[in-house]
Amino acid sequence: MCGIVGYVGKKNAAPFLLEGLSALEYRGYDSAGMYVSGAGALKRAGKVAELIACVPDDFEGKSGIAHTRWATHGAPTELNAHPHTDASKTVWLVHNGIIENHSEIRKDLEAKGVVFASQTDSEALAQLIGHLYTEDMLLEDAVRAALAQVQGTYGVAVASTREPEKVVVARMGSPLMLGVGEDGIYVASDATPILPYTRKAVYLDDGEMAIITDQGYVITDADEAHVDKPVTSLEWSAEAAQKKGYEHFMLKEIMEVGEVIENTLRGRLDTANATAILGGFQDTDIHGYLKHAKRIIITGCGSAYYAGLIGKTMIEELAGIPVEVEIASELRYRRPTADPKDTVLIAVSQSGETADTLEAIRAAKRQGILTLGIVNVVGSTVARETDAGVYNHAGPEIGVASTKAFISQVLVFALVALHLARERGLSKQEGSDFIKELETLPEKARAILTRTKAIEAVAKKYAHTRDFLYLGRKFQCPIAFEGALKLKEISYIHAEGYGAGEMKHGPLALIDTDFPSLVLAPRDSMYEKTASNIEEIRARSGKVIALTTDGNDDITRLADDVLYVPETHEALLPVLTTIPLQLFAYYIAKERDCPIDKPRNLAKSVTVE
Ligand code: M6R
Repeated sequence: MCGIVGYVGKKNAAPFLLEGLSALEYRGYDSAGMYVSGAGALKRAGKVAELIACVPDDFEGKSGIAHTRWATHGAPTELNAHPHTDASKTVWLVHNGIIENHSEIRKDLEAKGVVFASQTDSEALAQLIGHLYTEDMLLEDAVRAALAQVQGTYGVAVASTREPEKVVVARMGSPLMLGVGEDGIYVASDATPILPYTRKAVYLDDGEMAIITDQGYVITDADEAHVDKPVTSLEWSAEAAQKKGYEHFMLKEIMEVGEVIENTLRGRLDTANATAILGGFQDTDIHGYLKHAKRIIITGCGSAYYAGLIGKTMIEELAGIPVEVEIASELRYRRPTADPKDTVLIAVSQSGETADTLEAIRAAKRQGILTLGIVNVVGSTVARETDAGVYNHAGPEIGVASTKAFISQVLVFALVALHLARERGLSKQEGSDFIKELETLPEKARAILTRTKAIEAVAKKYAHTRDFLYLGRKFQCPIAFEGALKLKEISYIHAEGYGAGEMKHGPLALIDTDFPSLVLAPRDSMYEKTASNIEEIRARSGKVIALTTDGNDDITRLADDVLYVPETHEALLPVLTTIPLQLFAYYIAKERDCPIDKPRNLAKSVTVE
């Protein structure tokens, strides 16, 4: 949730640190601060803009560290904001993650006379480093000695007044990367702040430390051995990470859907063999394992979990392999029953840094289960820790609400299902038909984007309702869950997603004239059943917005308002029906004047439990 930036080089560090903090705002935070060698530290509760406003003109130095904090231990105050320091104000530290044994460290140091200034777990680490940092010691040795006493997770950047042209960074469970620039080395918790300065990136792994000086950087592992890390090229442009004139990132990201579908499919459709080519599955061992897998477990959180639910129906319908879908925060604590011989875990994560998803992967790996990732952020921890996987290629997603990433996740599942199905008896003709439909999706998605006015008009009509029910069946049931999540997270309207067949088992009791339902009713194999569910709601005077496929005039007699998407293969309809729901939530949130890209209490990437 928090963000880190750092710099050592030829330039004044402060401008990059402040720009970097602004670039990281999308992650969610409640205070910000920075330390610049020779100039000192500045912190503010609230927005980065407030920090920028208080920076004096002569606040200059050639190295520094900075942080956006999202409170976990201690209130979001200036005192609790990072950077934290030790008793002698020699060591300055910014930290992402949680120091689980901070109380013990604090007690121990307080017994030795150390006085703490904040309530944070992070200060315990700053004080511990300061305490161990004797006159003849290098900063990196003090940091290493302190980290050896720490339990928990960290991405940490540390500076010292005694060694001004140096920043030491270390990682355990919280992402950190270096940007190798012409005029210095940049540090960040994700690529966004670095993109305007350099395309050359080095990702740290857990247990690694980088010692950055004006001469360059050295990376060591937990045993202090030098590690030669590859320098990878960042493909995302700085421009791609900006709003391109749209009022909100969320709208820009929804509007990119045509291109996103093309990018996710690019190079992966093998028309000659009527199958999908997925680079990560080409390895002989992985291929063999998948071919004989008897059980698939899909895991993820939030929207990624809902994408998994659609993936389940796709894989079961097309390939006939039993699939379970588990919320990662539950799966990680459950007693494992899977047989590693023939079970595959697929973890889905846009950021690739979600703590619960990572732990679910690690638990599966401990059991010897093959782990695959469906990940958007290249080089992220999920991408690196899974045995193989598929990248979404959706580009950077800045809005907290998952939109284009969700659609690309669903699409990747369509490719996985096709790939598995063709190995298990789906005919070549059926494979070809499926591919043909996949190829029509960019154009069909773009057609929906030309209908935003109609969606906006319906959204405005319902913008001030208190509750909403989203209903769907089979492929559309997870879309109902996802639609409700989107509405609640950005508009703060209470919304619930249900399988429409469940209505008479309880939720129907809620229905009255003030409790509207949005029903996903495309002309698919469940249409007649869903239409009956709409009748049940109408009989209780409930208002209904129906989302159906082009040409379905029948629905107008049942619904108060109707939205349309083009027709396609039933299994691919979720890709299309999601788009109007994203726009519907967006326009409702806009009408209610909500902070759409950064909803209250939420962060883009949930890197703590
Ligand atoms: O980065 P991830 O895909 O692992 O994130 C998972 C969820 O936190 C995420 O999908 C969340 O539910 C979104 N805010 C939903 O819009």
